[in-house]
Amino acid sequence: MTSAQAKRLILVGPPGAGKGTQAKRLLDQLRVPHISTGDMLREARAKGTELGKKAGELMDRGELVPDEVVIAMVVERISEPDAKTGFMLDGFPRTRPQAEALDTALEKAGLALDAVVLIKADDAVIERRITGRRADAKTGRIYHVEFDPPPPGVEVTHRSDDTAEAVRKRLDKYHRETAPIIPYYRSRGLLREVDGLAAPDEVSARLLEVLGAKA
Ligand code: AP5
Repeated sequence: MTSAQAKRLILVGPPGAGKGTQAKRLLDQLRVPHISTGDMLREARAKGTELGKKAGELMDRGELVPDEVVIAMVVERISEPDAKTGFMLDGFPRTRPQAEALDTALEKAGLALDAVVLIKADDAVIERRITGRRADAKTGRIYHVEFDPPPPGVEVTHRSDDTAEAVRKRLDKYHRETAPIIPYYRSRGLLREVDGLAAPDEVSARLLEVLGAKA
């Protein structure tokens, strides 16, 4: 890891932009934990916790989980030992109150964000990407039935919020609630932008470049 490399990062972008795909590809180079609020909520749901049950209903409808729930989850997670030297947040913050709460928590710890990377993708490609997404049931590795098909014999899962109807709602939420946090980070000189429509290898290379890390 070079000293110029950003360590406290946020990956932001519409559903299906490739945040999860890229976070998993970059783990080796960046060597910071990938903290996905979507994955944490799906885990709580799979365990059948009260929080998981409530969150699951909202997720299936493409609604956001209340700010106070996700803020508490993330503040606790980034204080764990493996996140002391950095983290890659995926799917958080998603609203202005979440962005402000993250700043407050980092300030209290004497820390600051290094970069916010926007992975850009047009609404037109999102529905196809999302409805074709599958994940390896054991490893979580993300596939796509057309663009990156799972090898024969691999057991895959299909997210219950990856329906055309829920995707439209998720996109609407993204434009209304998440996109407005982009100028908030741009005005502080933290924003880096990457074209998420390029091939996955190209997106990874560009991400490493904007983060000051070597490919
Ligand atoms: P979350 O799990 O965060 O979902 P999301 O933000 O909608 O993002 P996705 O995971 O759908 O997309 P991605 O960008 O990671 O795309 P991926 O890499 O998989 O959140 C789910 C729900 O949880 C929310 O709706 C909400 O209810 C709740 N929630 C979570 N966080 C919250 C928060 N902070 N506040 C409130 N509520 C919260 O790629 C998609 C597909 O495209 C894959 O099949 C992949 O193979 C393919 N693909 C990727 N890159 C490429 C490429 N370059 N070329 C071709 N295909 C590609």
